[in-house]
Amino acid sequence: MSLDNSSKLNTLDHIADSALIQLVYVSSLTLSSRLRASIFDEVEAHARNYNEQQGITGTLCYGNGHFLQCLEGEKTKVLALQQRIFSDKRHKDIEILLVQAIDQRIFIDWRMRLLFLERWLWSPATKRQAVQLAPFLPFAPYSWTSIHTEQFLQIIRTFEKPPHINAAGITYNALGNMVRHIAAPHQAFLVVQGFLTLLLMIGIFILFL
Ligand SMILES: Cc1cc2nc3c(=O)[nH]c(=O)nc-3n(C[C@H](O)[C@H](O)[C@H](O)COP(=O)(O)O)c2cc1C
Repeated sequence: MSLDNSSKLNTLDHIADSALIQLVYVSSLTLSSRLRASIFDEVEAHARNYNEQQGITGTLCYGNGHFLQCLEGEKTKVLALQQRIFSDKRHKDIEILLVQAIDQRIFIDWRMRLLFLERWLWSPATKRQAVQLAPFLPFAPYSWTSIHTEQFLQIIRTFEKPPHINAAGITYNALGNMVRHIAAPHQAFLVVQGFLTLLLMIGIFILFL
C-alpha cells in the first residue's frame, strides 16, 4: 500500500474499533479486466452477500476506466474488507480520497449499489440524473478534493433508480461500449475512410509490383 494511503488510514488509530467509519477510494480497472465482461457481475455479487453479512453499506461507481467506492460500517469490518479489496489485482493505482468517523451512514439502505457513470449508457429514465452529475463528468475522481467527493456522494444518495446498465442488449464490456459509442455516429465517415484506405493500399501494392 502506498505511504499516502497508510498515513490516511493511520488517522483512524485513535477511533474505537466499533465506531462507524466511511472510507472512499478511487482506482483504475486493469487492462485485462477491461476486456473481461464479467468483472462487474462478479464484484457486485460478492459485495452484495459479503457486505450485507458484515453490515457494510455504500456504493461502487464506475466510469471512464475508474472506480470510486464508498464503504460505510464498523471500523474493523470496513478495514478488513478494505484490505481484501486493495489486494485485488483486477484494479490498480488505488488512492484513498476520504477516511473518517461518521455519526450516520449516507447510504443507509444501499448494500453496494453499482453505478455506471458513462453518459451514453444511460436510459432516458436516468437522463435527469445526468444533469445533476454534469459537474462530475467525465468521471475523473483522482483529482477530486474531499469536498467535491462529499458533494458527489450527497447527490448520488438521492437517486432512487441509479444509472445502471440493464439488459437492453448492452454488454458490460467497457472497451466494447466505448468503441461502439465512438463508431456509431460516424458510420458513413468510417465506411468512406475504410474504402479510401483500401484504395491507397491497392495503389501502393501496384506501385511496388
Ligand atoms: C473495485 C472493486 C470493489 C470491490 N468491492 C467489494 C465489496 O464491496 N465487497 C466485497 O465483498 N468484495 C468486493 N470486491 C471484491 C474483493 O476485492 C475480493 O475479490 C473479494 O472480497 C473476495 O476476496 P478473497 O478472494 O480474499 O476471498 C471488490 C473488488 C473490486 C475490484
